[in-house]
Amino acid sequence: MTQPDDAAWIAATGAPRRESNAAAETRTVEPRPAEPRPVDQDGEAVDHGGPAVEGAQGADNAGAGTSSYPSYADETAPEMGPTGRPLRPVAEPEVLSAHGPARVIAMCNQKGGVGKTTSTINLGAALAEYGRRVLLVDLDPQGALSAGLGVPAHELDRTIYNLMLEPSTAVTDVLVPTRLEGVDLLPANIDLSAAEVQLINEVGREQTLARALRPLLPLYDYVLIDCQPSLGLLTVNALACSHEVLMPLAAEFFSLRGVALLVDTVDKVQSRINPDLKIGGVLVTMFDGRTVHARDVVAMLVERFGELVFDTVISRTVKFPETTVAGEPITTYAPASSAAEAYRALAREVIAR
Ligand SMILES: Nc1ncnc2c1ncn2[C@@H]1O[C@H](COP(=O)(O)OP(=O)(O)OP(=O)(O)O)[C@@H](O)[C@H]1O
Ligand SMILES: [Mg+2]
Repeated sequence: MTQPDDAAWIAATGAPRRESNAAAETRTVEPRPAEPRPVDQDGEAVDHGGPAVEGAQGADNAGAGTSSYPSYADETAPEMGPTGRPLRPVAEPEVLSAHGPARVIAMCNQKGGVGKTTSTINLGAALAEYGRRVLLVDLDPQGALSAGLGVPAHELDRTIYNLMLEPSTAVTDVLVPTRLEGVDLLPANIDLSAAEVQLINEVGREQTLARALRPLLPLYDYVLIDCQPSLGLLTVNALACSHEVLMPLAAEFFSLRGVALLVDTVDKVQSRINPDLKIGGVLVTMFDGRTVHARDVVAMLVERFGELVFDTVISRTVKFPETTVAGEPITTYAPASSAAEAYRALAREVIAR
């Protein structure tokens, strides 16, 4: 297979600027020098931005007068976001009176450790806060999504593996309610690692997950599939049954490598298996707005993906590893944190798209 060329678009958008010395890497780039930088509960700089929604200001900043971004009412100039663009206003989500059919979103990037699982958990939890019914699908044999929701998947007899490979498995035997109201889980454990090999001999092997999920789609508003860091058959199964791909990308230069291959894979699945599939959004994660490097990477992504880049970016904070240990999303672990508010802002953008 010919590898799509990352270098071409990276070169076209320009490589990150060279820092004049090591100290410059942590140099603070103040978006508004006259105002104090907000910090979260850990004293870390907070720069997630997010679309402006009247009355939906970050809880960290609420009433404290420390917001780095004044409301539209205060200024005539458009409010700038961390992506370097004016924030696009996003409407407050409507209250739903009925549910389904689900919009299926694959959280996908073959690069490891970019925030796929963290974003699946927290976007799901934030969508549920807006009254959406959410099904989270763990499609990674590591079972990180299940663990992150406090579900001991390694002890379970029936998981997504059984649902996909044993047609006699009832979905009710696998579906697990989570501690979050409105959020259910199809868990995974190491059993799923056998699926990649076993699926090769299945008829309609790319559509196995689609068949398993079909009866559940009318019951939910969103299905979020947490993919493993590979573009193998399990990920192709996720793409084959999704309406869109949400691509989490860490704000680091090395994250850009491999993006062309991911886009190429989405294009192939779209043309050969699932004509409805599209890239629904690019989410910048682990963003540190104090570094020129992170800002340059975001600028390159905006250059490459334009409107698809969410205005909300997820800042780097030590709270996320803590939530994994706690087995709950940041929206309940630290509900007033800027990180929780960032995922709420992302949920509003997803609902509005
Ligand atoms: N915004 C963030 N700031 C700091 N740490 C983060 C952030 N998002 C995620 N992490 C941490 O980074 C690690 C990797 O995140 P996560 O598991 O979500 O990535 P992933 O893309 O799902 O990884 P994999 O490819 O291995 O499945 C985890 O320890 C997580 O807690
Ligand atoms: Mg993961």
